[in-house]
Amino acid sequence: MDIRVICAIGQSGQLGLDGGMPWEGSEDRVYVEDVERFFEITRGHVLICGPKTVASFPDFAHNDRTIVTIRSSDDPEDVLSRFAERVVFVGGGPAVWDVYAKYVRHWDINRLPYDGEADTWFDPAWLLAGGRHTIRR
Ligand SMILES: NC(=O)c1ccc[n+]([C@@H]2O[C@H](COP(=O)([O-])OP(=O)(O)OC[C@H]3O[C@@H](n4cnc5c(N)ncnc54)[C@H](OP(=O)(O)O)[C@@H]3O)[C@@H](O)[C@H]2O)c1
Repeated sequence: MDIRVICAIGQSGQLGLDGGMPWEGSEDRVYVEDVERFFEITRGHVLICGPKTVASFPDFAHNDRTIVTIRSSDDPEDVLSRFAERVVFVGGGPAVWDVYAKYVRHWDINRLPYDGEADTWFDPAWLLAGGRHTIRR
């Protein structure tokens, strides 16, 4: 299966603030281009996300991608197997990536110049989730 993530983080891993992006409303080119790129790359594909992340998308986002709200009661492998023939983007938030990271083969992370507050953070451990560890002594 082709399971991916596309996300944007601040300089220290900031992901979210008050239900939206921490840099929400910024009109600087780098932030606008990030949003445009997100919609371009996910176009035509499946985007599975927790309820707050789904609520943060504008209505038009539903027109040209399949946005699916996932719940903690859903079995991740059941969810993913429903879209076996599609490219699936796991859209977060953190509790979702905690569980789905081990299935992800491609991470697309845009590190933005934002250095302010956040209430939701990226965890670098997601990148190696489910991998095998070799301990050298
Ligand atoms: N910067 C970025 O690229 C980016 C990307 C995504 C999100 N965000 C930001 O992150 C924030 C929202 O994230 P959030 O984590 O607070 O809320 P969220 O998107 O609602 O995601 C967490 C919720 O997903 C549900 N869920 C679904 N499957 C799950 C599973 N297998 N295990 C655990 N929970 C599961 C749970 O809700 P139930 O228990 O109710 O089912 C959980 O509370 C917003 O500020 C948003 O803008 C930023």
